[in-house]
Amino acid sequence: MVIFGVIGTKGGVGKTTLSANIGALIADMGLRVLLVDADIQASLSKFYDLDYQAPLGLTEVIHRGAITDACISHTAWERLDIVLCDAPRRQLAGDGSSSDLERFLQNRMDMPMILRRALRAPYIDENYDVVVIDTPGAQGPLLFTAALAADQLVTPVLPETPSAREFRTGTLELLGKLSEAAVLGIRPGPVTAVINRADRTNDAKLVMAEIRQGYLEFGGNVRVASAVIPAAVIYKEAATHRTPVHRMRSIQAFETMHQLVWELLPNLEGVYAGATTDGIESNE
Ligand SMILES: Nc1ncnc2c1ncn2[C@@H]1O[C@H](COP(=O)(O)OP(=O)(O)OP(=O)(O)O)[C@@H](O)[C@H]1O
Ligand SMILES: [Mg+2]
Repeated sequence: MVIFGVIGTKGGVGKTTLSANIGALIADMGLRVLLVDADIQASLSKFYDLDYQAPLGLTEVIHRGAITDACISHTAWERLDIVLCDAPRRQLAGDGSSSDLERFLQNRMDMPMILRRALRAPYIDENYDVVVIDTPGAQGPLLFTAALAADQLVTPVLPETPSAREFRTGTLELLGKLSEAAVLGIRPGPVTAVINRADRTNDAKLVMAEIRQGYLEFGGNVRVASAVIPAAVIYKEAATHRTPVHRMRSIQAFETMHQLVWELLPNLEGVYAGATTDGIESNE
């Protein structure tokens, strides 16, 4: 089993869109996927239709430090399950927490370990091949516990100067904080930056080159994926239709998402959506 944490220290860069799309594509490639919505905005929870809504969700997982069947909902897509975020949002509290769940986590000594322990349980390992965790766009205990639960981190970066700078400073700061967990015996996983919403402007090209140059500063733990996700309305349309983007009629999106998944999971290289299931058309 491989656990991906989709992280970022900036809001609105495409974490939820990426989590939903890579999760669904990997499921369409024949693997069993569990999405985990660890963002109290609950955008991933609303991304796909559900065939079955479990009575419980993320709150129970965090409170108990374990996942049971009662926390796992089924999306309308085959092999794609989800732990829904059921934590109500509320006004930002004085301590910076924005939900009771974050408050609960903040007060726990074992906060960094909670989601990690829950996801690395035999039940999850036996039932899923890949876990994809969507995280909040701001630093806080949920992002922290989610990032430390992951084997690999994926971070979307926009090819715009402010986003690229934030990637360098914010990501570096977050990785620094995460590596403090080494005292607990946890090392943050390797990071793959994914350039998202790239357009054809010269500015975007320059910033992309800068991002690729700049990632060298992070050392061996950070790389930039060769696959670049373009800015394209199909990604928004896919969300509107509650459909994974590779199932929309776009060869570009189909190919880009495959390239990206193959980079993240090299064992899947050459495997296409629908490869193991007769019923899935490949949109080509
Ligand atoms: N490649 C793309 N092309 C065009 N639009 C995109 C692309 N990727 C994401 N978007 C759009 O950008 C917006 C933000 O995306 P998303 O919600 O995935 O970001 P996020 O990082 O999860 O945000 P938050 O920090 O609020 O959780 C959405 O409207 C989404 O449809
Ligand atoms: Mg999001």
